[in-house]
Amino acid sequence: MGKEFASAAARWCHLSGMPAKPEIVAICDVSEDVRSWFKANIPSIRLSTGDYREMLADRDVEAVYCAVPHNLHEQLYCDIIRAGKHLLGEKPFGIDKNANDAIMSCISEHPGVFVRCSSESPFFPAMQRLGQMIENKSFGQIIEVNSGFLHSSDLNTAKAINWKRMIKFNGEYGCLGDLGMHPCHMPFKAGWYPKNVRAILSNIVRERPGKDGKMVPCETWDNGTLLCETLDPVSGELFPMTIKTQRIAPGETNTWYFEVKGMRGCGRWSSRNPRRLEILEYSGGLQAWQQIDMGWEAAYPGITGGIFEFGFTDCIQQMWAAFIYELMEGKPKSRFAGCVTPDEVAYSHRLFTASLKSQCEGTTVEIGDRN
Ligand SMILES: NC(=O)c1ccc[n+]([C@@H]2O[C@H](COP(=O)([O-])OP(=O)(O)OC[C@H]3O[C@@H](n4cnc5c(N)ncnc54)[C@H](O)[C@@H]3O)[C@@H](O)[C@H]2O)c1
Repeated sequence: MGKEFASAAARWCHLSGMPAKPEIVAICDVSEDVRSWFKANIPSIRLSTGDYREMLADRDVEAVYCAVPHNLHEQLYCDIIRAGKHLLGEKPFGIDKNANDAIMSCISEHPGVFVRCSSESPFFPAMQRLGQMIENKSFGQIIEVNSGFLHSSDLNTAKAINWKRMIKFNGEYGCLGDLGMHPCHMPFKAGWYPKNVRAILSNIVRERPGKDGKMVPCETWDNGTLLCETLDPVSGELFPMTIKTQRIAPGETNTWYFEVKGMRGCGRWSSRNPRRLEILEYSGGLQAWQQIDMGWEAAYPGITGGIFEFGFTDCIQQMWAAFIYELMEGKPKSRFAGCVTPDEVAYSHRLFTASLKSQCEGTTVEIGDRN
């Protein structure tokens, strides 16, 4: 993910009217190979180190993007914040709720440091349009919301184990910690916070080949489906919301989807067909879905003409534009053009922790009020 940011920063000229430009002056990775890639490709790098403390001591470093395994989030994020550097951290923002609580305390002790969590799918133009529809209350009373993030490469049982499949590095949340913030991003920005959850989690593949090819336990949850009763702050009514995170979803390479069904309108998008936005508007007459092919209509404008396609690397760059815009201007360009806030990611920990309890007890678990 660090390489993705480096590439987005290298083509910053793509964007127009940004209040600042990121310059990558220092990099840190324990792997010499990874550092070599950065040094070969990013000429602005002045410090390359395997010790992040050395990077934090560098006065030229104003902000840090930190993308490391989940067991390191608490220590590294807190050290970055204590060093007075702004932070874009990766999800899940702590391996578990205790780690996230510690990060949240550190953030509140350093109010001058700007902290956000990485999550990029809402920056696809169709998702931005759905966000505008939520802001304009175009859906009417909400009937149901479905949001998910699906992968399929774990269908291959010969795929070797890596840190994301080990509790020690990835955490007890399994697929929820690894994938879960993504499908929570749009609902939370909409103000749709689950009040309770019934979770069904499955560990489908229980062993995978280790480094030497011998089978080792694979203990993390592969797939999770959360059914949540959620309050719509506009109508004051409850509605069902499903959040799916699956590592074993046959045929799905990296599929984000988001669907809203309401009494006056419906909308849906999936990264399977990233241009395509589907909308149904209802005012008592025909109930017909329209299909709109969205072009390059980004929240942060750029040089690409509106007729061209928008892709994953654009969406990463838009997320970075959102981080830098809010850092400089003090607020995001619009509600859905902002990165995930620490409060939003902290709520995801409450949801995932309640989901583990729900799975363990086979019951619906209350999450409580947002505050
Ligand atoms: N936003 C997204 O779409 C997205 C996608 C993938 C991963 N992620 C998140 O990004 C983070 C990293 O995941 P990844 O897929 O990039 O993992 P990765 O294993 O590809 O990269 C992690 C890097 O951290 C380095 N590292 C490990 N310990 C370190 C230390 N002590 N100091 C410095 N560097 C160290 C490793 O050498 C490695 O290069 C995770 O939090 C993951 O959830 C986000």
